[in-house]
Amino acid sequence: MERLTGLRAAVTGGAQGIGEAIAKRLAAEGARVAVLDLNGEGAARVLPAPHIGLACDVTDSASVDKAFAEIKAAFGGIDVLVNNAGIGTAPGDGMDKYYVAQAEQAAGKDVFADQTIHCEDTGWLRVLDVTLNGAFRCTRAAVRLMAEEGIGGSIVNIGSTAAVKGNGPVPYCVAKAGVIGMTRAMAREFAGRGIRVNAVNPGAVETPIYAGLPEEVKQAVADDSLMRRLASPDEVAGAVAFLAGSDGSFATGSTVTVNGGAWFD
Ligand SMILES: NC(=O)c1ccc[n+]([C@@H]2O[C@H](COP(=O)([O-])OP(=O)(O)OC[C@H]3O[C@@H](n4cnc5c(N)ncnc54)[C@H](O)[C@@H]3O)[C@@H](O)[C@H]2O)c1
Repeated sequence: MERLTGLRAAVTGGAQGIGEAIAKRLAAEGARVAVLDLNGEGAARVLPAPHIGLACDVTDSASVDKAFAEIKAAFGGIDVLVNNAGIGTAPGDGMDKYYVAQAEQAAGKDVFADQTIHCEDTGWLRVLDVTLNGAFRCTRAAVRLMAEEGIGGSIVNIGSTAAVKGNGPVPYCVAKAGVIGMTRAMAREFAGRGIRVNAVNPGAVETPIYAGLPEEVKQAVADDSLMRRLASPDEVAGAVAFLAGSDGSFATGSTVTVNGGAWFD
């Protein structure tokens, strides 16, 4: 089904994982896609022409603005932005010490598993800069182009169930909760322009992050859901495709939870 035919889309963090699956899904459904990633070579490998792949660092406004200028030159404008780039942890965020304490707890030692007291400003700021501020910078650039054309558009932000459940590194949970707040505020702000803003909150997804984990740890995460497995990246991409195009035309400010029934919203 080609329900996105004629749409011009950009996917950040699209060189691998969930972003790659989203880029491929949007392209399969008929959109022309710009894959943006810190890893420019990886981005360029995801899809053949007429799709494009661009190096873009979402923490750098100049890099973001340059990428969107290139999208305008190649596609003439943009209809869909998927803010997918995000990191769960960064050097200096205290997670190294948290994991050590967690292993000690598992071995029966009476210790607290702290992150916050070990978290330096650098670690805190880096996670927020990629995961939350990056989505702001890209949305600002995309909406400038959408406003020029005046034909509306669709923004889809990748959140996380960690935004709701708080089960992750503290700066990550804060960044993702911020992404949901931004989704709602911008949905109100841009409604008059015909620009919809929605979010998808995935639970655990089978990506490189989980590939390295021991099978029993993966199974414990999987057992949190009624499906007793992780999501495939394409199961997240399907929800994004729905929100991106006209199938989702009455959805704005909403969050679609893709958590295998771990809980019901
Ligand atoms: N994997 C999961 O279980 C899961 C669950 C819920 C939400 N998410 C969210 O989904 C999104 C994708 O996750 P993933 O597991 O595919 O991650 P991933 O680490 O496999 O891929 C992330 C991509 O983002 C790119 N990236 C990182 N920093 C960037 C920057 N500064 N500028 C541009 N690109 C940058 C990386 O190069 C990489 O290609 C993230 O926002 C993540 O928080 C993931």
